[in-house]
Amino acid sequence: MRDLNLHLTPAEGVERLKWEWESERTHYPDLLGFGTADMDYQCPGPILDALSDVIKHGHLGYPMVPDEFYQAIHDHLLKVAGWDIDARTSVAQNVGIYTSSWSVLETLTKPGDRITILTPVHMCFRSLIKLNGRTALECPLIYKDRKYSIDYKSLESCIASGTKILWICNPHNPVGRAWTREELEEIASIALKYNVFIMSDDVYSGLLFPGTSYTPIASLSKEISALTVTQYSTSKSYNTTGLRHSYIVAENPEIMKLYTDSLLRLQLSYGKNIMGMAATIAAYRDCDSWLDELNRTIQRNHEFITSYFDENLPGASVAIADSTYFAWCDMRALGLPPAQLSYLIECEEHMITENGSELGKGGNGFIRINLATSEENLAEGVRRLKHFWNKHFKGGVL
Ligand SMILES: Cc1ncc(COP(=O)(O)O)c(C=O)c1O
Repeated sequence: MRDLNLHLTPAEGVERLKWEWESERTHYPDLLGFGTADMDYQCPGPILDALSDVIKHGHLGYPMVPDEFYQAIHDHLLKVAGWDIDARTSVAQNVGIYTSSWSVLETLTKPGDRITILTPVHMCFRSLIKLNGRTALECPLIYKDRKYSIDYKSLESCIASGTKILWICNPHNPVGRAWTREELEEIASIALKYNVFIMSDDVYSGLLFPGTSYTPIASLSKEISALTVTQYSTSKSYNTTGLRHSYIVAENPEIMKLYTDSLLRLQLSYGKNIMGMAATIAAYRDCDSWLDELNRTIQRNHEFITSYFDENLPGASVAIADSTYFAWCDMRALGLPPAQLSYLIECEEHMITENGSELGKGGNGFIRINLATSEENLAEGVRRLKHFWNKHFKGGVL
């Protein structure tokens, strides 16, 4: 049995999009990667053991779905959120989260339909809506005193103007908020009033700073669950993105039927990801202490970057967060063209960040930093950002 401590992945011999691909693309030998939403930590030991066990058996053909897979999901949701689902009838597997979003969009909406999203949000939300021939209605979050909250008035008017799906992200990438029960109740009451479906991307639901709790919107009531598809994967919380495996929970049998029909059309219902299922079982059964250590580390990194900004980058700040592994950094006071911000940081500081301007309304002038890395990388990263700030900051107010 491998240990349950958090270990950095040795860089030798691995070919990651987050590091090696970016180095190849930029040719900077001193490149720092804070972009792609992957961690620089090794996958937890029990998951590696479970995957090794699959290999040891030597059979990688089409697997049955073991009962343990459903049981592990059931027990996990009950433990973390008090949500008691019948996993055998309400869980369906898919490749990634976004493949699954594709199926939801193509079954619950028609071309031309409108889907409401809360921005800034991961750019794939907008692009998938567009690629499906649907329209994204962007409802910006409120940013006040460094904290994000939901503008219910604006949300209601977006939805009242005709929306088929409200697509939320909980916890929310990039701003790092796990929506509270009260916030979700407000969202749910609007959804119920206008009878819109909810797609809730809860891929970051394991990444909660100590003391933060997680509520799946569908767990609020049977009525809201009947309108909701919730998406999960071990990918972000346990660093298994390369397995390409996710699952949904949909308690409404009609939605489940539409969704599984979509899987049939994609030939995704026959055969499952043998590694993805093994990883899910191990993650939910054996990795709690690893996840606790991870979340403590991320919170520490978040506190570090927040104080560093406060002390060294006058006029810049980091949004208050309670979840995910992102620092969402407000660089608006630089007054640089928003579309160029991350590009300039890349060229001048040899550092990859995610550019806020691509994440929809409210993202201009922000960058997203991935905190799931070593203390050394983070310390060097903030030093480079200070250098960038000193070079460009004119002291003016935007
Ligand atoms: C909110 C969110 N959902 C989904 C994904 C991607 O999931 P997948 O690779 O499983 O499609 C990401 C990746 O960054 C993400 O941030």
